[in-house]
Amino acid sequence: MEPKEKIILTGDRPTGKLHIGHYVGSLRRRVELQNSGLYDKIFIFEADAQALTDNIENPEKVRQNVIEVALDYLAAGLDPSKSTLFIQSQIPELCELSFYFMDMVSVSRLQRNPTVKTEVQMRGFSGESIPVGFFTYPISQAADITMFKATTVPAGEDQEPMLEQCREIVRKFNNIYGDTLIEPNILLPENAACLRLPGTDGKAKMSKSLGNCIYLSDSADEVNRKVKSMYTDPTHLQVNDPGHLEGNTVFTYLDAFATDEMVAAMTADYQTLQEMKDHYTRGGLGDMKCKKLLMSVLQETLEPIRQRRAEFEKDIPQVYEILKKGCEVAREVACQTMDEVRRAMKINYFQDYTLIEEQSRRFASK
Ligand code: TRP
Repeated sequence: MEPKEKIILTGDRPTGKLHIGHYVGSLRRRVELQNSGLYDKIFIFEADAQALTDNIENPEKVRQNVIEVALDYLAAGLDPSKSTLFIQSQIPELCELSFYFMDMVSVSRLQRNPTVKTEVQMRGFSGESIPVGFFTYPISQAADITMFKATTVPAGEDQEPMLEQCREIVRKFNNIYGDTLIEPNILLPENAACLRLPGTDGKAKMSKSLGNCIYLSDSADEVNRKVKSMYTDPTHLQVNDPGHLEGNTVFTYLDAFATDEMVAAMTADYQTLQEMKDHYTRGGLGDMKCKKLLMSVLQETLEPIRQRRAEFEKDIPQVYEILKKGCEVAREVACQTMDEVRRAMKINYFQDYTLIEEQSRRFASK
């Protein structure tokens, strides 16, 4: 079905505070998209119900992180007057739509979903011990997206299989029941360094359990301390040794955060990041100088975020009020979509007057 409006939807599981990997991978872009004026509606939500699929014994963790993530959203610049911020579990229609979608996806199709495969491995679920709700979360995610008729889902490449599965469900639904739902497109991060920011230890992913994250809520001192201990190039022992950029976390972060204007303003010797990289690979540039630049760059980016966060932290009831209002707006949209879905699926018995009339006639003529 051709979309009438350009609608963005995306979200995060509230299982931890957001870190700078989230910021360059998604949050920064969301704020730009929000402020671009190119979209008719923007929905950003906390996937708490999805977080519970593998945290069912840990409700307190999810509950505490709902407010942390909301604060991170607001601190990063998501503006409730432009974007609807809401919480997944407060929209019961999402369960309803997921339930019908479950009839359109086979067990083998879910088993082939590469994201499910890796996540199942990561969590150490073996074979049949996977919770059904976790196994089927791509279906619930398809409901999240289609409920709001999203055309555009800004997300990392790891979400690509989810979007593919979602489009399959939409095509199947529209084929059977007539044009009702919209096929979404993924919007990947532009900068390759942002696709997945490694941890400060150089490991592939920032993760709380590895202790290699820089959080948006970290103090300036914490950020500096973490940068100082960052992984660089293990073969760059003497300043004059040629350095390597590949796998060098300091440069990966600089790629993700530093603009040439920042480099020119913050260093005495370089106009662009490339000039600095050239010096590093030639030899003669020490790691500490690179780290110093990274500290300045990160502070410039994170300081306004920290300040906004501190403001919102002063009025937590107001943050809950923002989320509650967002849920009300989201719920209205969800009810509208479910009306359309029920009509398409012919389970709108009480609204379908032709059905009642037809059957009255049929039974009268018996
Ligand atoms: N799976 C996403 C994550 O782990 C969260 C999410 C749930 C989501 N539903 C979504 C993202 C729909 C985009 C669209 O962060």
